[in-house]
Amino acid sequence: MPMKLLHVVGARPNFMKIAPVMAALAQHGARIEQLLVHTGQHYDANMSDLFFSDLQIKKPDYNLGIGSGSHAYQTGTGMMKIEEIVLKEKPDVLLVHGDTNATIAGALVGAKLKVPVAHVEAGLRQTPKDMPEEINRVVTDHVSRYLFCPTELAVKNLKGEGLTTGVFFTGVVMYDLFLSVRKEVSIEETCSRYCVRETEFFFATLHRDFNTDHPERLRNILEAFAEIAKHCPVILPIHPRTRKAIQSNGFEDYLHNLNVIDPIPYADTVALLSGAKCVITDSGGVQKEAYFAGTPALVMMEDTGWRELVEMGFNTLVDADKEKIITGALSEKPIGEITPGLFGNGDAGSRIAGIIAEAVERCSE
Ligand code: UD1
Repeated sequence: MPMKLLHVVGARPNFMKIAPVMAALAQHGARIEQLLVHTGQHYDANMSDLFFSDLQIKKPDYNLGIGSGSHAYQTGTGMMKIEEIVLKEKPDVLLVHGDTNATIAGALVGAKLKVPVAHVEAGLRQTPKDMPEEINRVVTDHVSRYLFCPTELAVKNLKGEGLTTGVFFTGVVMYDLFLSVRKEVSIEETCSRYCVRETEFFFATLHRDFNTDHPERLRNILEAFAEIAKHCPVILPIHPRTRKAIQSNGFEDYLHNLNVIDPIPYADTVALLSGAKCVITDSGGVQKEAYFAGTPALVMMEDTGWRELVEMGFNTLVDADKEKIITGALSEKPIGEITPGLFGNGDAGSRIAGIIAEAVERCSE
């Protein structure tokens, strides 16, 4: 009998994380059967389907169609629907990825049904402790059997919370994906498609609730972007949450001089991050992808789970401080050196696949 793995995903960053892990597990052939559950937390074509086709992820075996709603709604409804699938499919391992509401819903169901849970991207920690992603990470780590850490700091964080069993430093799965996609894209061609010149534009993203759902913070950030755009183009692929917040606050005027576009395919993100003069973001994924690309990033958070990059002088925390964002973007500051191996060697997916295959085989002997 093949071992059965059930992946639970729901939101855009989860899709980037499963692609390398599923591909590496597929290398184990018929020994491993993989089932994919999509909670439907992200459902717009350019937030979901596009990633499945571009990253060649198999069509989900189950789409729960949960959609948008409160945290309790997404987590609670997710749990009820995932539970039915787990009871029916009886997987050997349930894999969850990152820190979304799909992650915590999957992890809690697995743990309560005594199915070993594997958490990919375990051990990240940041303040504020009450942000939804931090709550999801902490709870998920504490109910998981296998903790796959992207960095040595993540391993240390888990140790500080008494978690030392089943902890593995594997590297960042998104680094695997970045490296494979980077080989395929042309920065020059992508920049010309987006009407910018290499190293002469900023690439910005903005979607975290602590920025979009606080009008003062949102206004500060948009004012900063508008000021920066007077000097150099700012490309802003806009998340639906952010678009709605801008509309409901009547902040549309700040967007006039920005290159505001709909969410873009992953390959274009990789090329634009690589071609930009600087990245300005509140995304956990984008701030480290900027580093993979060798581009400095201004991080619009008060703290980050990827602290190494700030300590190395590569990324700078600017929170939602208008002056810090403008100064950071417009001043020429030397950036830190790339540290080889910090995020692994681009083989995190196959390391994770190997550890899971071995562990499940050992249990079934
Ligand atoms: C979620 C993750 C966050 C991740 C982000 C990436 C949680 C707690 N947070 O936040 O860690 O960085 O995804 O995007 O899971 N919406 C649409 N169409 C969609 C998806 C969302 O219109 O396809 C709008 C809805 O108004 C929705 C809002 O965006 O209410 C927020 O979406 P939600 O999935 O709740 O959270 P994200 O901000 O995307």
